[in-house]
Amino acid sequence: MSLLQTATDALRLDGVRKDFGDRHALQSLSLGIAPGEVYALLGPNGAGKTTTLNLILGFLDADGGRIEVAGIDVARDRLGARARIAYLPETVMLHPQLDAIENLSYFALLGGRRIDGKQARDLLTQAGLQAEAHTRRAGGFSKGMRQKVGLAIALAKDAQLLLLDEPTSGLDASAANDLSHGVRAASRRGVAVLMATHDLYRVKDVAHRLGILSAGRLLTERRTAELSASQIEALYLQELDAAGAVAA
Ligand SMILES: Nc1ncnc2c1ncn2[C@@H]1O[C@H](COP(=O)(O)OP(=O)(O)O)[C@@H](O)[C@H]1O
Ligand SMILES: [Mg+2]
Repeated sequence: MSLLQTATDALRLDGVRKDFGDRHALQSLSLGIAPGEVYALLGPNGAGKTTTLNLILGFLDADGGRIEVAGIDVARDRLGARARIAYLPETVMLHPQLDAIENLSYFALLGGRRIDGKQARDLLTQAGLQAEAHTRRAGGFSKGMRQKVGLAIALAKDAQLLLLDEPTSGLDASAANDLSHGVRAASRRGVAVLMATHDLYRVKDVAHRLGILSAGRLLTERRTAELSASQIEALYLQELDAAGAVAA
């Protein structure tokens, strides 16, 4: 990795604000994520997690502050910034008639990248999808399998920043574990990851750092190496309690 890359955060938010009418969804949110770092954004429903991702993706415009993706100002060059981002939405829509490899090839091509069968298999395996499912039609896939294909599609983009919105919600423990492994694999390749989640149980294994968001404010940030899984849970409840928020 060059000096230049390490000097630039993969993601930088500075005093970002977003209002919906008179509701302050985000109030001066600042955070930075280094290349290869996995950051878990924790918070109850309505905390502003999805809004944060939508602002980074340029799907929404901020009312204040600044967002940079790999040094690119989202307000100035929305498409340039988006080209550096891979995004795994909460619900992955696949073509039901196509198998996993065909879906991956199709969506990669839509994103401007042609991948061959071998690359497709490698990406699906990295994302945790077992080989036996690679050539099955996506119409019969479980939510976990669709999420894994979605992660493979995101990885195929070769982006510098991976955004995930509640990737493990509604998944069984084994599918959620596979997906966490896929996220760590991306991180080892230098991809920065911002993951919105309320899956406290997996934060320690998957994330290097966590931030607790409540009512549009970042209450605290910690390195997960300093905390046990039960300390993370205690911290989360304590912070929300102190902020007068209700955990959900
Ligand atoms: N398009 C929208 N219009 C109006 N209010 C919105 C919109 N999107 C989100 N909100 C509000 O902004 C706040 C943050 O929502 P959201 O970012 O979806 O939270 P989270 O993803 O953490 O559950 C909530 O109060 C929500 O009702
Ligand atoms: Mg959300």
